[in-house]
Amino acid sequence: MTDLVGKVALVTGGSRGIGAAIVRRLARDGADVAFTYVSPAGKAKAEEVVAAVEAAGRRAVAVQADAADPDAVRAAVDRAAAELGRLDILVNNAGVWSDGPFEEVSQAEVDRVLAIHVRAAFVGAQAASPHLPEGGRIVSIGSNLALRAPFPGVVLYAMSKSALGGFTRALARELGPRGITVNAVHPGSTDTDMNPADGENADHQRGLSALGRYSHADDIAATVAHLAGPGGGTITGAELTVDGGANA
Ligand SMILES: NC(=O)c1ccc[n+]([C@@H]2O[C@H](COP(=O)([O-])OP(=O)(O)OC[C@H]3O[C@@H](n4cnc5c(N)ncnc54)[C@H](OP(=O)(O)O)[C@@H]3O)[C@@H](O)[C@H]2O)c1
Repeated sequence: MTDLVGKVALVTGGSRGIGAAIVRRLARDGADVAFTYVSPAGKAKAEEVVAAVEAAGRRAVAVQADAADPDAVRAAVDRAAAELGRLDILVNNAGVWSDGPFEEVSQAEVDRVLAIHVRAAFVGAQAASPHLPEGGRIVSIGSNLALRAPFPGVVLYAMSKSALGGFTRALARELGPRGITVNAVHPGSTDTDMNPADGENADHQRGLSALGRYSHADDIAATVAHLAGPGGGTITGAELTVDGGANA
């Protein structure tokens, strides 16, 4: 595919899992791609992702930037635009799993999860906006738990991901006049380090889905690529669920 030739993307949390699949897919479709990671373990994975992008003939920039730190998020956006020469696509993907009984969730955990899932998306979009040209794209990775809660223990996680719905619709209204689209993609159970398909809770999750199986990270990346490409030109303010029918 050559839909994204000449475009530049920034994907937060691109060293592993869904983010890495999005980086590889956007590069395969022709984009140069910057991405962030946070951990020392992520650095080694980031080098593999950079190599994959370069093998696809595209440029890659890996930036260590904690999504919980707004200054680091802003710096990552500006570095992506400076090093790759422009910025067309922002994918807010960096995320962490968090569960447990509502009464036992600490205030520090509330602050951490909201900082990574919500504030980082806001700050990242704010920093990206001046760079985005007509045809620009913002895609945020939420969760199907933003829309339904089929089991207990996910109050904080679901609250943080559902905030992306309001963010998406309201920002679509603000950026629409500039020809920029804003959407959220809500994965269901997807086989990654966060939620391995052979994990202890996996069979329960498979049972919730209409298709009876996990998604692959590439399935989520395909939807992001569609939104980022010309086919996504008039999709904006939307929340798209990619969850094997778990929310059906
Ligand atoms: N897997 C699922 O079933 C599922 C379902 C619904 C929604 N999601 C959402 O999809 C997104 C990706 O999840 P995943 O399953 O791919 O998770 P993952 O396999 O755990 O990968 C998480 C990625 O995010 C990065 N990251 C984590 N915290 C970060 C921070 N504070 N700052 C910057 N980067 C950070 C990690 O970097 P390092 O490598 O440096 O740690 C890694 O690249 C998340 O937003 C998650 O909530 C996942």
